[in-house]
Amino acid sequence: MGDSFHPAIQAALRFDPVTAIVSGRQPTIRYLRDVQSIFADQPACQELLPSNPLLYSVTQIEDHNGEGDIHYGIGILMPGRVGREYFMTKGHIHAWRPAAEVYIGLRGRGMMLLQDERTSECRAVEFMANSVVYVPGYTAHRTINIGDEPLVYWGVLSSAAGHDYDAVAKRNFRLVVVERDGAPAVMERNDFLAEMKGVSA
Ligand SMILES: [Fe+2]
Repeated sequence: MGDSFHPAIQAALRFDPVTAIVSGRQPTIRYLRDVQSIFADQPACQELLPSNPLLYSVTQIEDHNGEGDIHYGIGILMPGRVGREYFMTKGHIHAWRPAAEVYIGLRGRGMMLLQDERTSECRAVEFMANSVVYVPGYTAHRTINIGDEPLVYWGVLSSAAGHDYDAVAKRNFRLVVVERDGAPAVMERNDFLAEMKGVSA
């Protein structure tokens, strides 16, 4: 009977919404050492590097690559901070710029930074368990964990989207999410850098 099925029809994948482990699949793991340049407070980053904490891992499901097909991936981002800046992903924009994406929160409490490449407008959007964020095309996106447990989520997008990490690595995001008086605050990166200089001066 299997012969009459479309080749893409297969058994359901099993995943754990607590650990983000997908049965039979291997995650890509990112430690602080892999992404250190994304953090604004480089002295704090250097201080933390010897312990090289695990920041996040992503399991990408990219089995189907035909026209109209979909890729999806589950991420788990650990709680913690580098200095005052919360743990976050490297962030990317899609190589095929018009490609949008849907992020579906399963566990934890976080934010997403969304920056329009064409205008440099940047917004911080709340993103947590049981919520969905729509990432439009032409928009760089980064996930940030502001809670005290792992942030777990699925991302679903066109198989043609691709990932451009270099564009984001060159410019970073205009906004940062940092701890201030025990709570998360969204700031312009330049203002945060100036504030840190003021403290150390
Ligand atoms: Fe994406």
